[in-house]
Amino acid sequence: MNAATPRRVEHQLTDKGYVPVYTTAVVEQPWARYTPTDHEVWATLFARQREVLVGRASEEFLRTQAAMGMTPDRIPRFDDLNRQLRRATGWELVGVEGLLPELTFFDHLAHRRFPVTWWIRRPEQLDYLSEPDLFHDLFGHVPLLMNPVFADYMQHYGLGGVKAHGIGPAALVNLTRLYWYTVEFGLIRENGGLRIYGSGIVSSKSESIHCLESAAPNRIGFDLERIMRTRYRIDTYQKTYFVIDSYEQLIEATAPDFAPIYARLARQDSIPAGAVLDTDTVYQRGSGEGWLEDGDV
Ligand code: PHE
Ligand code: FE
Repeated sequence: MNAATPRRVEHQLTDKGYVPVYTTAVVEQPWARYTPTDHEVWATLFARQREVLVGRASEEFLRTQAAMGMTPDRIPRFDDLNRQLRRATGWELVGVEGLLPELTFFDHLAHRRFPVTWWIRRPEQLDYLSEPDLFHDLFGHVPLLMNPVFADYMQHYGLGGVKAHGIGPAALVNLTRLYWYTVEFGLIRENGGLRIYGSGIVSSKSESIHCLESAAPNRIGFDLERIMRTRYRIDTYQKTYFVIDSYEQLIEATAPDFAPIYARLARQDSIPAGAVLDTDTVYQRGSGEGWLEDGDV
């Protein structure tokens, strides 16, 4: 299904030559066409991550994932998961080819539709993949959509994205950082310790260990405007992880109108990915070991 099946990609002529553009269309999950290898990749990753995440992932993540009925046996059918999801929070999964243009993505979220990449990585890509695949999207993002508070946060984010898109590119940069440091790479305080809820972490074995146990990264308390100013890493572990106290905190902190915030942030410099500020609530100041100087985006 992966290497053998051509993806629906169009090519668009730009000043860099022809570049691939994934179709924005919603596609039916071609479930019957997954190969035994595809199901094995799912099974291997699923078993490996469930094990690594015991005691590391948020209890709510582990609970919702089990409640949805995701199992290692075979790649789940979106239709089956959708029955649970619709009943729990009114969200539904839609299949897509891969990364979507920003506005299309925001529009899905604003309507409580979560786009899931239908294809899964190849066996030689178990540890790292530079773009989202089915494992990242389904295993990482979908469980917490069963939680009513997190489900609302995701929809509000989509609505906020449509709005930021109308304001301009700088606003979108600020908003994207918020998504990165919460939805993708967030940590949460639970039972007196730190746990993972970010999908970019829970779908990676090595980062699941690194983000909690390594001395290298900073671990800093959630602060909305601070996060919206902070650059991040796309090709290495994060230099900084931000910690929320509860899922409610996400809703409460993001309830205000962001328009004046974007205006204020436009006059301030961005913060390097690894910086620690005097105003930060520091759970751990990172040793910085292994950090690359360049490459914050
Ligand atoms: N309150 C934000 C706004 O006015 C919307 C938002 C909510 C953004 C939740 C992100 C997360 O733009
Ligand atoms: Fe993601």
